[in-house]
Amino acid sequence: MTLVSQQDAVVAAYRERVGHAPAGVWCAPGRVNLIGEHTDYNDGFVLPFAIDKQVVVAGGRRDDGVLRVTSLQEDEPVEAAVAELAPGSVDGWAAYAVGVAWVMRESGQRVGGAELVLDGDVPPGSGLSSSAALECSVGIALDDLYGLSQPALERGLQAQRAENDYVGMPCGVMDQLTSALGAAGRAMFLDTRSLEVELLPLDPHAAGLRLLTIDTRVKHALTDGPYADRRRACETAAADLGVRALRDVTTDGLDEALSRLDEERGRRVRHIVLENARVLDVAALLRRGDIAEIGPLLTASHASLRDDYEVSAPELDAAVDAALAGGALGARMTGAGFGGSAIALVPADRVDEVVAAVGKAFADRGFRPPVTFEAVPSDGARRLR
Ligand code: GLA
Repeated sequence: MTLVSQQDAVVAAYRERVGHAPAGVWCAPGRVNLIGEHTDYNDGFVLPFAIDKQVVVAGGRRDDGVLRVTSLQEDEPVEAAVAELAPGSVDGWAAYAVGVAWVMRESGQRVGGAELVLDGDVPPGSGLSSSAALECSVGIALDDLYGLSQPALERGLQAQRAENDYVGMPCGVMDQLTSALGAAGRAMFLDTRSLEVELLPLDPHAAGLRLLTIDTRVKHALTDGPYADRRRACETAAADLGVRALRDVTTDGLDEALSRLDEERGRRVRHIVLENARVLDVAALLRRGDIAEIGPLLTASHASLRDDYEVSAPELDAAVDAALAGGALGARMTGAGFGGSAIALVPADRVDEVVAAVGKAFADRGFRPPVTFEAVPSDGARRLR
């Protein structure tokens, strides 16, 4: 689906429901994380970009205080009185949408009822932040419908809070801030402690390269176990090391820190510390326009996530290995892991070879065929009409 056909679809569905045109149409994208995985809940550095897959929403105010959300991907609309929302009052896909309205009210914003019709093409469970796209699209629509004009950073933080406190997924801040603040042709270097953002040039085409996304179609469900486990391990390690967050462990201090931790938590900490250093290195290369040079750092990140942090999956490892064998300059899993997607940085003339190599590796192992597409650095949440 293209952005234009998504807009046409939500406007038509809105008209059918309400009998007239929507007051506006907005969208918010998913993201690919170039590097900096599992660092965001350790006050560390991340370097994601918004992609050209998104949730598009047509909306208008309702004066009865009811928020009704229809998704073209779901059978039934969800209806809730905004003033009565509380964590747990709505579950499933719609929790990500109404959770944002709940957070906005909790933070003192005068948000009332609305009719929203959504269409998304970020594959759910693909590790490309379909949930952040959903949250941020609803956030910008409600913000605009109620004339709030909040800064994009604030909207991103509200979306994260919706996911933490309404949905119950203890995610960091990366996905929602990328969906809110991303920019076309840019990667977003984010210090998750200060929330300072630097938009760095990321134009693979200009360098004769492509960034491929390989969706393994192994769905990850994040609200359960392993993500929260990793987060807890990091927090207890930071406490045992006497630092505010693992961000504060330096590469020079790593050996000493490891000597004070058990083996498993030591590996978790080593991943975080070295991953933060890799993000800084990749950011420095992008600032200089040396995108072709970042490949080995991407691949090192994957090895660390696979061996030290243990959040990869056989399909992700197969995708990375096959992409590298097919001529990619670097490859890694992206997002939380446990399934989802990998990315590969590929010379334009090797794309077919890489896609074929990955397809063959999956077929040989009896995995479901992956879906491969180009990830294009795109704009964050915005009004379309
Ligand atoms: C998920 C979370 C993010 C981040 C990544 C791992 O996408 O939502 O906050 O922790 O996993 O880097």
